Amino acid sequence: MPGESIGVIGCGTMGAGIVEVCARAGLQVAVVDQDLEVLESGRDRIRASLERARTARKLEGDPGKIMSRISFSSDLKHLVSASMIFEAIIEEENSKRELFTTLAEVLTDPDTVLATNTSSIPIMKLAAQTTNPGNVIGIHFFNPVPVMSLVELVPSLLTDEATIRRAEAFVSETLGKNVIRSQDRAGFVVNALLIPYLLSAIRMVESGFASSEDIDTGMIEGCRHPMGPLALADLIGLDTVMAVSESLYEEFREAHYSPPPLLSRMVQAGLTGRKAGRGFYDYG
Ligand code: 3HC
Repeated sequence: MPGESIGVIGCGTMGAGIVEVCARAGLQVAVVDQDLEVLESGRDRIRASLERARTARKLEGDPGKIMSRISFSSDLKHLVSASMIFEAIIEEENSKRELFTTLAEVLTDPDTVLATNTSSIPIMKLAAQTTNPGNVIGIHFFNPVPVMSLVELVPSLLTDEATIRRAEAFVSETLGKNVIRSQDRAGFVVNALLIPYLLSAIRMVESGFASSEDIDTGMIEGCRHPMGPLALADLIGLDTVMAVSESLYEEFREAHYSPPPLLSRMVQAGLTGRKAGRGFYDYG
């Protein structure tokens, strides 16, 4: 809806991407992150992405004007006038549950839609923390958000039909993304399929079956994927891959969803991929 005023919580990779596409669609966006450094790097990431889009002639509008529609704060009260809020904090169930409990106290408008960009956590677990679960829905974007055309829409058992219609209209008409719907199952459609594939590639590296480079080249040149599974895991963030894998394993108890030890060790070592400068590849 063109009249929506948007709030985004979390200004990491996904949050910054959501902020960018909303501001590019002409909307005012209020962003909150409790970590001022993350807010600052998110602002830089959005600026750089707009510049990249402008150079590639993919940008409608002036980067400066788009940036001026975005306001940054570390205080959740900054979101009180938002009609639709996207939660995009770390993929950690307890942190998200706590945030949803706090939001139920801070937000006063009963019509505010609370959308979570969780990659894998069942929406019902988060909706259950609020006083108005009918307004809670999963709206799952893909990385890099300005480039990827898909969004998954995930209603919980308690999401109101009006919330689903409003979310779908917003994502498809205002943001111009393609929508698929998923039942409220851990991982939804895409990650339930993608994560076992990424984990299989990590198991191949772990067992010495092939090198990261050869596995990635195999999938790029043998299957025309835009990038190989290990480079993709680095792009997503190995901590996120691990968190999604744990959610899937908790829900389905199937061995192919369980994180391989190499993934756990890399996350424990802080080698979480591109954002850390090192994962399966070195990013200098
Ligand atoms: N804004 C708008 N468009 C942009 C842009 C920006 N900031 N940056 C790049 N683009 C456009 C480019 O102009 C280009 O368009 P074209 O193909 O029409 O020329 C296109 O995006 C690709 O950009 P580049 O040519 O600069 O980059 P690459 O060709 O190296 O592609 C990539 C990079 C888009 C990341 C590609 O490798 C890719 O699609 N990889 C797979 C990504 C993927 O699978 N993401 C999903 C991850 S799973 C997920 O997110 C779910 C989560 O829950 C875990």
